[in-house]
Amino acid sequence: MKAAHLCLLLHVFLTASVLVHTFDPLTTTVVLGIGATLGRTIYNYLHESCDPKWITFNATGLQADLERKMFGQHIASRIILKAVTGFMSNDNPKKPLVLSLHGWTGTGKNFVSELIANNIYKEGMDSSFVHVFTSELHFPHAKQFDTYKSQLQQWIKGNVSNCGRSMFIFDEMDKMHPGLIDSIKPYLDYYDKLDGVSYRKAIFIFLSNAGGENIVQTALDFWKAGRGREEIELKDLEALLSLSVFNNKQSGLWHTSLIDKNLVDFFVPFLPLEYGHVVQCAMAEMNARELPPNLKVAKQVAKDLVYFPKAERVFSVKGCKTIESKLNYYT
Ligand SMILES: *[C@@H]1O[C@H](CO)[C@@H](O)[C@H](O)[C@H]1NC(C)=O
Ligand SMILES: *[C@@H]1O[C@H](CO)[C@@H](O)[C@H](O)[C@H]1NC(C)=O
Repeated sequence: MKAAHLCLLLHVFLTASVLVHTFDPLTTTVVLGIGATLGRTIYNYLHESCDPKWITFNATGLQADLERKMFGQHIASRIILKAVTGFMSNDNPKKPLVLSLHGWTGTGKNFVSELIANNIYKEGMDSSFVHVFTSELHFPHAKQFDTYKSQLQQWIKGNVSNCGRSMFIFDEMDKMHPGLIDSIKPYLDYYDKLDGVSYRKAIFIFLSNAGGENIVQTALDFWKAGRGREEIELKDLEALLSLSVFNNKQSGLWHTSLIDKNLVDFFVPFLPLEYGHVVQCAMAEMNARELPPNLKVAKQVAKDLVYFPKAERVFSVKGCKTIESKLNYYT
């Protein structure tokens, strides 16, 4: 599609250039000048660049997405909307935005990162300014840690030099070598510039299961006490979360001074999902696939998932993670 556009435009431009020969030199210069400017504009139009045409934050869009597509995460939704909106509406932030998302698998950590990207970058997750790092894919061998370290630093520096409004997502932080995160610490801090590069407009998002068990326990305590899930507040989880992350050697944040130095702006807890949320996920997935909504199928899909703890069977073991493939089977 884009290549076809480009060909057509090139053709028009060449035809125009041929016509130019019939004009006097002054007109030719002017026309060529206009042509060059036009060429650049067309290139920017078709090719993603680091400007507001491609990078504009849509606060109402993010809010709508969080309300319509994220289920059972009243705390996470609220923090994320506030954090991202505050950060993106500040033209001169003092440091990059650093979010640490915590929770059980399938609760929506990856998904919410996607929603953020979709409402900042026109190209969403496909944007060349959004970078996802997974330990298993990018840093699989502990022995090569030194190579990874300098590579990661180079990448971040290179990409932020290219575009200040870059976004970096680190998935599976639990499996990340602690030193690796330590090595990018300077970029997260309150520096005006490092080596001539300012990182203050960048966004860093860390995803992990760390603290997930504590979050589950709190949600379960509320459930057992017959209290509504919506009654759970950030303060019920916050202290618990940062402490557990700090003490959990497997968490990847362990031993790093991220927490020590308050480089993480927000710890965002994701609650385990209940049957009702899984039904909502299934309905949303049907909607996304433009299938007619079928509550009966959605309930069936939700019912066939595994729930824990064994006795109470309150929370979905895999959250909404397997809904997509399950739905293929039922429809
Ligand atoms: C922002 O998002 C809203 C809701 O999704 C949408 O209606 C609106 O067109 C978006 N605005 C821009 C400028 O993309
Ligand atoms: C940007 O990051 C990607 C990894 O996501 C890397 O492959 C690329 O080389 C980086 N670009 C620069 C200019 O460093």
